[in-house]
Order: sequence, then structure tokens, then C-alpha cells
Amino acid sequence: MTRTLTLLGIESSCDDTAAAVVRARAGEAAEILSSEIRGQTALHEAFGGVVPEIAARAHAERLDAVVERALKVAGLGLGDLDGIAVTAGPGLIGGVLSGVMLARGLAAARGLPLMPVNHLAGHALTPRLTDGVGFPYLMLLVSGGHCQFLLVEGVDRFRRLGGTIDDAPGEAFDKTAKLLALPQPGGPAVEVEALLGNSKRFQLPRPLLDRAGCDMSFSGLKTALLRARDTIIAEKGGITVQDRRDLCASFQAAVAEVLATKTARALVLAGDGVQALAVAGGVAANKAIRAGLEAVAEKAGVPFLAPPLRLCTDNAAMIAWTGIERLRAGIAPSADFVARPRWPLDDQAPALLGSGKKGAKA
Ligand code: KG4
Ligand code: ZN
Repeated sequence: MTRTLTLLGIESSCDDTAAAVVRARAGEAAEILSSEIRGQTALHEAFGGVVPEIAARAHAERLDAVVERALKVAGLGLGDLDGIAVTAGPGLIGGVLSGVMLARGLAAARGLPLMPVNHLAGHALTPRLTDGVGFPYLMLLVSGGHCQFLLVEGVDRFRRLGGTIDDAPGEAFDKTAKLLALPQPGGPAVEVEALLGNSKRFQLPRPLLDRAGCDMSFSGLKTALLRARDTIIAEKGGITVQDRRDLCASFQAAVAEVLATKTARALVLAGDGVQALAVAGGVAANKAIRAGLEAVAEKAGVPFLAPPLRLCTDNAAMIAWTGIERLRAGIAPSADFVARPRWPLDDQAPALLGSGKKGAKA
């Protein structure tokens, strides 16, 4: 399909209520006409993780206004749209259903095509929205809820080459911050501390590095960090500012090394012809991790693509874009679909373990 397509995207699978309008003209870079996001960090803060019932209620209360705002910023009405794309999973099912019900209602009322979208496909196809990369390319998704290597072979063809078997790296950063009395979200706080720390002081493990393939594990790392912290406390009665910096630097170096080494392996598994190494997810904001991945890409002779952070983290522009990609690929829209809490992109790959603080990982 080559005509101009303007889609509204709706995303509510975790703790961000988002709506966006994306327009794609044939032969031109797509335009994000609006991308509205309302986070829920404050609502869940006291609970140490996202509470599904609170998230679902907040989505239901806010979705109308967020969609209205996205259309207003785009300067469009529902009548100007060619369709609606909505996250149909994976994620916290109450939130997903809030978005799906609204999208179904709007589509039915206006006679618009409705395209269900896999949230992970949204992340995975973002480098095509931002950089127009061709297939196939390797995508490393690293966030608070996801960690996997995907070989993106087509709009609807993904191969999972590996992923975490327990925590996502963002979770490990957040837990590390908690253990060291740093604010949440932990990633940025740990990164700041690490800048002034000695990454060689503590020998933290590099889990699964000795195992072939590109599966990863991060839960043991936080236990090792806890032990290192408690050893200092037992010796000195507390930890100094410098101890904390060194712990953060040592932890970050371990995560960066595991991600870089496993990415190098994933690039080999991906085979020849890979067009780029792309990253998505909040953890990709980390400069040390990013530098490690960039070096791996350079060594492999492939471009490194890191979309701007606002498009790397959860947003609805990626959902609208995925809807456009699917329509262009000739995939039929359908209002008749089931929302799925778990929805792996690659149904041939074995299921991942663990469910993460932000809900089910696919
Ligand atoms: O992609 P994201 O915004 O949300 C989802 O998980 O879906 O990722 C958030 C995660 C948090 O765990 C946060 O601590 C981590 O990304 N993060 C970072 C950095 N910035 C955010 N981790 C390491 N270094 C950072 N600079
Ligand atoms: Zn996500």
C-alpha cells in the first residue's frame, strides 16, 4: 500500500498511558504529528512496583484525555484518520483492555480500520520509523521489563535469539539503587554514582558469560552486590560515599560487559546481511552500556542505531507506526482479536522465565 496513511496509536500495557498520531507518505520519512504520554510513577511509588489494578484504573481514567490531546496537538479530528492501532499485548491485561476497549469504540463509531499491535513489535520496528533501516537487523530490547535479542526479518517476522532468564537489566539497576538508598528509577541514579567510582574494586559476577548463546541472567548480580555491601557494613559499620560509588561502578561494568559480550554473540548468530544493531528501552540511555554496544557494532562493521530516548521507552508513536507498517505489508486490520497478557513475538522460541516487576515478559 503506497498511499498516505495517518494512524492514531494507543498504548496502555504497562504504566504509561500514551496516544500518538503518525503520518506516513509514500517514499518519505514518516512524521510523528503528536506523541502524548502520561506516566504513573507517583501512583505506584509507595508499592515498589507497578500495581496492576491501580494501573488499569489510571489508564481507564486518562485514556480519553490523552487521545483527545494527541489529536489536538496533531491538529486532526477522528475523521482525518485512516485507522487506529492499539497495543493488544503483552502486558498487564487490565491496562491493555482499557486501551483496546477505547480503540474498539472509536473505530466502530467512525468506521475506521483497527489494527491490533504487539507492544514488543512496536519497540522492534521503531528504528524503521526513526532511521528507515532495512530488514534484517538485530534489536536489543533493554528496559525495566524486557531484555531480549530479536532478529527483525520483516514487519511480522521476528526471531528471538536469546534473552534474560530472570530479571531485566533495568530491574537490576532499580534494585541496586534500592540497596544503596538511591532514588528510583535506579538506572540514572546508579549511572551518576558510577561516574565517580572505581569499577574494578568489586569483582562482581558476569552471569552466563561462560555459557554459549546469548541468554542472560541478572538476578545473581544484585545478590552479589548485596553481599559486597554487607561485607563493607560488617567491617566498617556503614558504607561511605566512595564505597557507594565503587559499588555502582562495579555493578554497571558487570552489566555493560555482559550486554556487550552477548550482543557480539547475537550478531554472529544473526548471520551475514544484518543491516544494523539497534537498541530500545530505558537502559539503552546508559552511556557506559551504550559505548560498549557501539564498540561491538563497530567491530562487526554494522551501523549502531539508538532512537531518541522518548521513542526508545514506552510510547504510542511506535504503536501507530507498527499499524502503518502492517497495513503497508498487506496485513488485514481486524476489530475481532483477543488481548493477550503474554504474546511472544517469536512463537518458536522457548518461553522466558520470570515475570518482572512491570508484568509479564513475553
Ligand atoms: O523502557 P523503560 O522506560 O520502561 C520499561 O521498563 O518499559 O525502562 C525503564 C528502566 C528502569 O528500570 C530504569 O532504571 C532504566 O530503564 N534506566 C536506566 C537508565 N535510565 C533508565 N538504566 C541504566 N542507566 C540509565 N541511565
Ligand atoms: Zn516497552
